[in-house]
Amino acid sequence: MSKEVKSVEYGLEKIFEGAEDFLPLLGTDYVEFYVGNAKQSAHFYKTAFGFQSYAYKGLETGSRDSVSYVLKQDKITLVLTTPLNSKSPINDHIVKHGDGVKVIALWVEDARSAFEETTKRGAKPYMEPTVEKDENGEVVRSGIYTYGETVHMFVERKNYNGTFLPGFREWKSDYNPTPTGLKYIDHMVGNVGWNQMNVWVKWYEDVMGFVNFLSFDDKQIHTEYSALMSKVMSNGNGRIKFPINEPAEGAKRSQIEEYLDFYEDAGVQHLALTTDDIIKTVSQLKERGVEFLPPPPQAYYDAIPERLGDHMKMMKEDINELRKLSIMIDADEDGYLLQIFTKPLEDRPTLFFEIIQRMGAKGFGAGNFKALFESIEREQAQRGTL
Ligand code: FE2
Repeated sequence: MSKEVKSVEYGLEKIFEGAEDFLPLLGTDYVEFYVGNAKQSAHFYKTAFGFQSYAYKGLETGSRDSVSYVLKQDKITLVLTTPLNSKSPINDHIVKHGDGVKVIALWVEDARSAFEETTKRGAKPYMEPTVEKDENGEVVRSGIYTYGETVHMFVERKNYNGTFLPGFREWKSDYNPTPTGLKYIDHMVGNVGWNQMNVWVKWYEDVMGFVNFLSFDDKQIHTEYSALMSKVMSNGNGRIKFPINEPAEGAKRSQIEEYLDFYEDAGVQHLALTTDDIIKTVSQLKERGVEFLPPPPQAYYDAIPERLGDHMKMMKEDINELRKLSIMIDADEDGYLLQIFTKPLEDRPTLFFEIIQRMGAKGFGAGNFKALFESIEREQAQRGTL
């Protein structure tokens, strides 16, 4: 794990001067998925997305109940975990939710204080501060529940020099597909149930000391058929951003309701992964078989110069290139951003990835919401879930 902290990629520090940082977060540490078959999932994320083999825990390392594969690409660390017998509680998670995100782990200086500060403000404990040791030092981890059965783990690794965590060994593989240019996690989005968005906004404010820095209501996020609301929560230094979505009334079933029906709970909807060259990254992902949402209509691309206004002057990408790859573009006062969304990564229409390149813009592609959701609705219609 790199100890280097890239000093606030977002330049949001000023906005958050008022935020009370009783929970200093250094960054995202790892994201753990509970999956039905970690070996096959690891192959998929390596082959399709270019993640690299990093660490392993299983029968060979003395883990009798579960197997975990740790994959890395630049600063993104994914852990894929599967149970080894029917008694493991991991099974219950998979039976109910299918494959999905169990843990969003946050890198902290002090995991004991993180646990104490959050639980005293009302967080439901998941794991008391626990010291794990091996010959490379020690890691302290603690955990609290957030929405649904999702968990935030706090990871203190300043006294550890080993591979990932104690209990893991380095995973060397003969199969090493090249990376695709994915760099770090820009934001992670949670879907929560009806009337729950503000409950969780308040939870992140009260329990984690986050601030709400952007809000979108159903008047801004709607199509002919469906609507949703979203509020973006950020920690004090702007490194961690968690938008929270809830469904809103529409003529048909929104994608958030579809998610809640299939995940059978609140949970993580998508991880947004950054790249410095979205055209190159998306071209490679497509060649490797990653499926993306269908493209917006031609009129969307024809309207780009008008929508971008002055930002067109600084735009380096060719609109035809974007059109060919179905990449979307949006702008705010600070610049523009390019983004594209994969189809769900498993058979249940639940978790997906966003690929994002920020060219100054700090928003989330609000100008693309309508085109994006219409695209999702065409997919929902095919699934019979609209
Ligand atoms: Fe996003």
